[in-house]
Amino acid sequence: MGKLQLHRFLFPLLVYFSSHLLLSSAYTLPHEYFINCGSSSNTTVNGRIFVGDVNSGSSFSVGRSSPVKDDNLSTAAYPLYQTDRIFKQESFYEFQTTVSGTYLIRFHFYPFSSPINLADDLFDVSASGFSLLSNFRVANSSNSHVMKEFAVPVQVENFRIDFTPQESSFGFVNAIEVFPAPNGFFPDRVVGANPAGHSGTYKGVLSQVLYTIHRINVGGLTITPDNDTLWRSWIPDDAYLYFSGAAKNSEFYSDKLKYQVGGATTYSAPDHVYRTAKELNTNDSISSNFFNAT
Ligand SMILES: *[C@@H]1O[C@H](CO)[C@@H](O)[C@H](O)[C@H]1NC(C)=O
Ligand SMILES: *[C@@H]1O[C@H](CO)[C@@H](O)[C@H](O)[C@H]1NC(C)=O
Ligand SMILES: *[C@@H]1O[C@H](CO)[C@@H](O)[C@H](O)[C@H]1NC(C)=O
Ligand SMILES: *[C@@H]1O[C@H](CO)[C@@H](O)[C@H](O)[C@H]1NC(C)=O
Ligand SMILES: *[C@@H]1O[C@H](CO)[C@@H](O)[C@H](O)[C@H]1NC(C)=O
Repeated sequence: MGKLQLHRFLFPLLVYFSSHLLLSSAYTLPHEYFINCGSSSNTTVNGRIFVGDVNSGSSFSVGRSSPVKDDNLSTAAYPLYQTDRIFKQESFYEFQTTVSGTYLIRFHFYPFSSPINLADDLFDVSASGFSLLSNFRVANSSNSHVMKEFAVPVQVENFRIDFTPQESSFGFVNAIEVFPAPNGFFPDRVVGANPAGHSGTYKGVLSQVLYTIHRINVGGLTITPDNDTLWRSWIPDDAYLYFSGAAKNSEFYSDKLKYQVGGATTYSAPDHVYRTAKELNTNDSISSNFFNAT
């Protein structure tokens, strides 16, 4: 199993937070690595300093590649997207990491079209020896920001993120986030809940790469990175509810939340995620004889 699909075990994951995990309360929010690729200036986004990687300091280094600046700044919605780094040959970022364990890695791509049409890209990305993106292309159909998020086991000092362009193409990236997840952020052992009906225990989550497909705030609204404790994005569940009449939003919970020792913490999900929920709609005239939300 190369990549686990996060949405498949998010449910057991949350259940297990309450009983099996000791989450460290000692986690402090990281100040690195947040990288403004291809830029010589630092940019502050949601309280984090994204360090320009041109003349970067000593905590990370960049292999053979070129910085590029968008000719058409009027289309760049966001300071981080105005510059990027282009890889025309195999190259890398290297990080002087001191803590081993699971790292959260986010890549931001914004395909601007001049001086080079970034939508002609085609490349692979790996980290710490794990393949993350393969034959990957950011197309300009949407002309908007694409973000890819992974959780990657890192056991070594000085781990690398490698960019490998496909033949006669190139890779690029506008911004990168790399930081250790809180202890116990993911359990190593989960109870299966997959569509094939397997219900066995899966061990070894922490030695796999996890790829975020959907992060859903059930019964609530979109949560943007500035409202999340680890700069995550959450989207509402309604579009994924198979039969929309099957469940309805619970009443918003506005009291103080009590996080229990050894259970979930505010880093597992921000308060707003816990304050909302869906409940089964037990209205007979809608749901017929049995209640089932899919
Ligand atoms: C950018 O931030 C880094 C890390 O905090 C610092 O070492 C560097 O001097 C800053 N560069 C500029 C141009 O402010
Ligand atoms: C810059 O963007 C505007 C708006 O999208 C577009 O009309 C214009 O042609 C672009 N200029 C260049 C040089 O790409
Ligand atoms: C991307 O945009 C450029 C310039 O606007 C255009 O020439 C090219 O055909 C577009 N590519 C795709 C895949 O839409
Ligand atoms: C999200 O953050 C903004 C400020 O950054 C704040 O105005 C807004 O109320 C927050 N929304 C929620 C749901 O917390
Ligand atoms: C049950 O559903 C029907 C049809 O949508 C609606 O008219 C009725 O008010 C609902 N009853 C309750 C108790 O929600």
